[in-house]
Amino acid sequence: MNQQLADRLRFLRAFAANPRQVGAILPTSRLAVRDMLDMGDVPGAKLVVELGAGTGSQTGEILARMSPDARLVALEIDPRLAEVLRKRFADPRLEVVCDSAEHLPDHLGEERADVLVCALPFTSLEPGLRRRILESLPGALGPDGVALVIQYSPLIQSELRRLFASVRRRISPLNVPPAFLFACRLRPDGD
Ligand SMILES: C[S@@+](CC[C@H](N)C(=O)[O-])C[C@H]1O[C@@H](n2cnc3c(N)ncnc32)[C@H](O)[C@@H]1O
Repeated sequence: MNQQLADRLRFLRAFAANPRQVGAILPTSRLAVRDMLDMGDVPGAKLVVELGAGTGSQTGEILARMSPDARLVALEIDPRLAEVLRKRFADPRLEVVCDSAEHLPDHLGEERADVLVCALPFTSLEPGLRRRILESLPGALGPDGVALVIQYSPLIQSELRRLFASVRRRISPLNVPPAFLFACRLRPDGD
């Protein structure tokens, strides 16, 4: 079985077991991943954080773009998916953490992300959890950092605008379903 099909089956199984937590029946398409990562400077980052890494659709492309001395900390709450990630990417720059994104500050310590990639299904998460995670995002970023958020609806856009000085949006129409991509920064864009 090829890797893409295997990933889709694993993903579907995770969705069947916990639909609200997984929030999608297919991993993000390669095109949407590229569109999303193009909105931030992954090659220039020293620390990249990924929230909701799933089967690794973003993880592989982040590692491909990252510099040799950068680090990627990927959080995934589902232990089976976290194990898939560990086996799939034998890359010393990657640390897979099996924990909820709401505990990200515990894993960052004094460090701050230059790029934070977030594929959490905010619209289907329990509202309190969604709020806690969203409100923790600005504090996880360095002053010039960017949070790249992918969603299947624009519902959290107003919340992102409340939390960040600059929120740029683009749509990746060929993803199934079409994806809303947000690049969120602490500093205003100035244009
Ligand atoms: C929509 S899937 C995205 C998976 C992958 N990044 C992709 O784009 O194909 C959301 C992922 O977030 C994970 N997840 C959900 N809630 C989480 C939480 N509180 N902390 C960390 N991961 C979580 C799910 O297990 C799932 O793998």
